[in-house]
Amino acid sequence: MIPIARPDLGPEELAAVTEVLASGMIAQGRKVAELEERWAEFVGVRHAIATANGTLALMGIFAGIGLEPGDEVITVSHTFAATANAILYTGATPVFIDIEPDTYLIDAKKIEAAITPRTRAICPVHLFGLVADMDMIRAIADRHGLIVVEDACQAHGATFRGRKAGSFGHGAFSLYATKNMTTAEGGFVTTNDDRLADWLRLYRNQGMRARYEFEMLGFNFRLTDLAAAIGLAQFEKLARNTARRQAIAATYDEAFGELPIGLPITPDGRTHVFHQYTIDVGGARDAIVADLREAGVGADIYYPIPVHRQEYIMERGLHADLPITDLAAARTLALPMFPGLTDAEQAQVVDAVKAAVGRHLGAGGGAGTASGARAGVATR
Ligand SMILES: Cc1ncc(COP(=O)(O)O)c(C=O)c1O
Repeated sequence: MIPIARPDLGPEELAAVTEVLASGMIAQGRKVAELEERWAEFVGVRHAIATANGTLALMGIFAGIGLEPGDEVITVSHTFAATANAILYTGATPVFIDIEPDTYLIDAKKIEAAITPRTRAICPVHLFGLVADMDMIRAIADRHGLIVVEDACQAHGATFRGRKAGSFGHGAFSLYATKNMTTAEGGFVTTNDDRLADWLRLYRNQGMRARYEFEMLGFNFRLTDLAAAIGLAQFEKLARNTARRQAIAATYDEAFGELPIGLPITPDGRTHVFHQYTIDVGGARDAIVADLREAGVGADIYYPIPVHRQEYIMERGLHADLPITDLAAARTLALPMFPGLTDAEQAQVVDAVKAAVGRHLGAGGGAGTASGARAGVATR
């Protein structure tokens, strides 16, 4: 089976880990500090604070901006549940709004209607490696005095008008095994806010500034030097691996150009880093996924049940009417996308997709897209 993702780990990571192991200094130390410096410079912000995973990065930001029960954060349901869970961690309420039918990202045009006197923040998710419309989101946030928290967990190095994901507000990144850059488990907060950065450095370290002097309530959100050493090796490869992802996407685009399916789009002024390559195949999605797996292609669905339809969310009374989100959950699938995908493997994926689409959608029958327009028209 060709997997949906495979981390690019080799002699560089092995050497980096071996060096840290041999040093005996394996917990948070110099490697973490070096990785933070490099990430802050790369994103173009004053501070990067490493955390043990991306969920903790989000939790740290939401706690650090002082969210409380009764506060609201506008976000999306078409995301990994950690986005909403991190808001709930503070006792605040996620308010879900719908996505754009062509990018699958937060529909910024719908934000203002969701703002109430309790709204504190907007949390766009740069899903699949594409940055949300940060011009509009920043303008709305500034107009209403709201904080912007970017869930950039899938968007390492993605840009919007030349600025990197994670530099438009407070950013959260994941370094999970399948992400564009990994430390096995890990994460970052990025911010230009000196106070928040200082607070987070304490919060992630039990609230300790000096040894055994606990200045505030804190916990253990730390990354290890072992993990950071892997991260430094991965960082060296990020530009090359991102270019490889973009080349794989271009090959998929070319191969699927004539098929009646929706392909990913990259609006002007943005660069897509293709954490996922997601296509819209309409109502035959589950049959097509089954065929692809039968053909040895590890297709997957991100995400089959939107967050607002998960039981624990509904139990909290968080109702939302999100037709585009529901369509995306029902009609889309992701194809293998990782830098080590060989040309032969990609050719196998392409053949399997063409066969499955031909079988289930026919030569002329369009799948339609989440926007209701014919696939391959709205999305090209
Ligand atoms: C959009 C999104 N948000 C949050 C997270 C949480 O990150 P982690 O798995 O590192 O906790 C992830 C990754 O899994 C993600 O994809």
